[in-house]
Amino acid sequence: MEPLDQYTAVAIDAAQEAGQVLLDWMEKGFTVEFKGVMNLVTDADRAAEQAIVARLSAAFHDHQILAEEGGASSGTASRYKWVIDPLDGTTNYTHTFPAFCVSIGLEIDGVIAAGVVFDPMRKELFVAEKGKGASCNGQAISVSRADTLNDALLVTGFSYDVRQDKTANNFDFFRGFVTRAQGVRRTGTAALDLCYVAMGRFDGFWEMKLAPWDVAAGSLIVTEAGGAISDFAGNPFSIYHDEVLASNGLIQQEMLRVFSDPSSKTTNL
Ligand code: IPD
Ligand code: CA
Ligand code: CA
Repeated sequence: MEPLDQYTAVAIDAAQEAGQVLLDWMEKGFTVEFKGVMNLVTDADRAAEQAIVARLSAAFHDHQILAEEGGASSGTASRYKWVIDPLDGTTNYTHTFPAFCVSIGLEIDGVIAAGVVFDPMRKELFVAEKGKGASCNGQAISVSRADTLNDALLVTGFSYDVRQDKTANNFDFFRGFVTRAQGVRRTGTAALDLCYVAMGRFDGFWEMKLAPWDVAAGSLIVTEAGGAISDFAGNPFSIYHDEVLASNGLIQQEMLRVFSDPSSKTTNL
């Protein structure tokens, strides 16, 4: 594996600059537009993305970029792909609920090799490089030791089509977990949810229908902190697939059993 720190250093600068952009727009006021009935975007999302893309393309002009608001890819022949969410937690942001972050992942030859997540409200910077562990503000982090669902604090989210798609939704699983775990939270920022599993604030996280930019950085941060990640059937995780189950590893099997337990099913919608 080639040295990753040259990439990580630029990603950290880009994430911190974008975080400041988000705080500045919060101060001066932003306009909200609708990408869907519940799916929002603001000037702040776009400005933060521009700042990130400008930095990354200046440093690595031939790398491919997959960014939420541009959706655009460039340098498609490159082995390197940056997967960017300039503002994860836009709904929180528009309500001034202080749970949102910037997320930047780097894929090399189809494998996530580096991940950076920055929470500008708490000034928490999460970083992971493949094979080198994960950190928060420079301190190594690791997953929790809760070994039963009964002792676990979990987190999840609901996708923006929750009003439309009443069959493939998360209500069934939510019921399955909320009746078995110590608690279930819903923070509205999948990238931070993964970082919080990585540092032991949560013991497990699941969600469906996330996009690659929601999970690219966080998925590596979890595994480098000693956690496990898969789909709901225990198959290998991919940022391009529909399901993510991440945990401290100790409760992964017990969580997997909830997905296959028919008593988790309600579907009386
Ligand atoms: C959203 C957040 C949220 C998750 C949604 C995502 P956005 O990203 O990660 O936690 O439940 O599915 O789309 O739109 O705030 O970047
Ligand atoms: Ca997102
Ligand atoms: Ca976003």
